Amino acid sequence: MLKSLSIPIIQAPMAGGASTPTLASAVSRAGGLGFLAGGYKTAEEMRGEILTMYQQTKSPFGVNLFVPSNDVVDLEKVNDYREKVQTEANPFGIRLGEPLADDDEWEEKIAVIMELRVPVVSFTFGCPSVEVINNLKQNGSYIIVTVTTPEEALIAKGSGADALSVQGIEAGGHRGSFLHNRLHSQEEDYPLLVLLRLIAESVDIPLIAAGGIMHGKDITTALTAGACAAQLGTAFLRCPESGAHPVHKAALINPRFTSTAITHAFTGRRARGLLNRFMMEYDNMAPYAYPHVHHITKSLRKAAAQTHNPELMSLWAGQGYQSAQEIPAEELIHLLMKQVRGNEPNE
Ligand SMILES: Cc1cc2nc3c(=O)[nH]c(=O)nc-3n(C[C@H](O)[C@H](O)[C@H](O)COP(=O)(O)O)c2cc1C
Repeated sequence: MLKSLSIPIIQAPMAGGASTPTLASAVSRAGGLGFLAGGYKTAEEMRGEILTMYQQTKSPFGVNLFVPSNDVVDLEKVNDYREKVQTEANPFGIRLGEPLADDDEWEEKIAVIMELRVPVVSFTFGCPSVEVINNLKQNGSYIIVTVTTPEEALIAKGSGADALSVQGIEAGGHRGSFLHNRLHSQEEDYPLLVLLRLIAESVDIPLIAAGGIMHGKDITTALTAGACAAQLGTAFLRCPESGAHPVHKAALINPRFTSTAITHAFTGRRARGLLNRFMMEYDNMAPYAYPHVHHITKSLRKAAAQTHNPELMSLWAGQGYQSAQEIPAEELIHLLMKQVRGNEPNE
């Protein structure tokens, strides 16, 4: 499947609004692989987006799901954190959300994906059971699992994944980690090239490189290191087709922001974004409790976006964010491919 792509570029699924059907279909029509993000929306909303994709392109596309976990969470710590963060919500006149543990409509979403026979399905935050993966494969879907360590790669392969999305520490958005994820900050965080090499040594299924890829030269490097395609998220954030919030798009070129960092302050799960005041002040206090912390801070992030305050928003971005360009997705793909071919070495 991946080898049949005329262009080895995958537009990363980006939950929270960025990967619209308009963006994903533009990428698929251009010969890459566009992705919808199933995370955070309802199964019905996801169904509507998939149907729109089928109308907008005949080319293959993907849908990404968050795999729910059964992690035990210390609710006392979660509630303490909620009270602390409430001081940020008070000026907006809002109460923070309840620390819910939901499964993001997992069963319902799998049912929609089966019914609509989505060509490519990718997973993050976990590895689905052999049974789920088998059912989807028998239904015609190609299965990708996101991994961040060699150990996760072995588990995903053993569960029947067709390919792995190998996510380096450079990547924007949430870490897809599913082993020891709450302790993960004290463990090894692999840069993309090291991770690709380690996984390629032990796993013989197609690898997709993700994390900090912004230029054709990065794609060439990833392909040379053993990947068969590159997955880019941040590079597409400023495209006009991207549904990223305008405040998020503007922050990517705002000189106030000078770096990215990894935080679990917004959602209780580690993610990379532009370093802002909320991350600096709350990261130390936040419990590792996903999705509880996500539900707590959701209304605050929304209120901040409505009042154009990037300091209290999760501005997910990878380490290469300064190279993100405001150009249509198709143009971006053509530019990247020119760079891959070495036609524009100084771009
Ligand atoms: C705004 C944003 C949202 C993301 N949402 C998802 C998601 O819903 N599912 C997923 O598997 N990965 C998600 N990711 C991670 C991407 O799949 C990918 O690993 C990452 O974008 C690669 O790094 P880059 O952003 O430096 O290109 C997201 C990334 C960003 C920047």
